[in-house]
Amino acid sequence: MDVSSTANGLPRINEPAPEFSANSTHGPIKLSQYRGKWVMLFSHPADFTPVCTTEIAEFARRNEEFAKRNVQLIGLSVDGVPSHIAWTRDIAKIAGKPVPFPIISDLDMKVSNLYGMLHPGESTTATVRSVFFIDDKGIIRALIYYPLSLGRNVDELLRVFDGLQTSSLYSVSTPVDWQPGQPVVVPAPATAESVLDEAQAEAQGLTYRTWYLRMKQVDSGK
Ligand code: BEZ
Repeated sequence: MDVSSTANGLPRINEPAPEFSANSTHGPIKLSQYRGKWVMLFSHPADFTPVCTTEIAEFARRNEEFAKRNVQLIGLSVDGVPSHIAWTRDIAKIAGKPVPFPIISDLDMKVSNLYGMLHPGESTTATVRSVFFIDDKGIIRALIYYPLSLGRNVDELLRVFDGLQTSSLYSVSTPVDWQPGQPVVVPAPATAESVLDEAQAEAQGLTYRTWYLRMKQVDSGK
């Protein structure tokens, strides 16, 4: 099916993740049933393709690391459930364990269109490699899109959840290349009056780099 003329909206950060009902390898599912968990909703281009196989196998192998962060994985492509089932049985042999998360069959491209997963410049028939990071209240907190040729990096996906969860918990931000356990950035002063000099900042337990860049340690270890 050519999708170049279909609606192709792009959900945005800090907006509610669009609700959907869909058929999957775990039967009918809807997004709202996962409220209270974080969700990684991701699309892949097609079943029985090599890069996708490496991704789903690795997501399956490392599912426990997502679960530790209260993250539910949900996959999606425009293939049918029988195809997903046959493919995930193959993947289980490669991964050494079953694929523990549902994979949506989006034959009518309803969810793909809702989430802007179809990028006709890249493919008119397949979803790109999109990743939606949805929080436990159903809000989109981050999104990443990759082309068909580029497999995702599980360490980075986990790091995004760690950063988002740490930011939420402590009202802080995470700096370049941040990893759990490293210092985080506290909000910059909003008024001239609240600016601290180095001695004042350090007395408050902050590491001072300049007046608007102060760091502190929080418990973000996993
Ligand atoms: C892959 O997963 O290997 C793949 C899927 C679609 C296009 C190109 C590569």
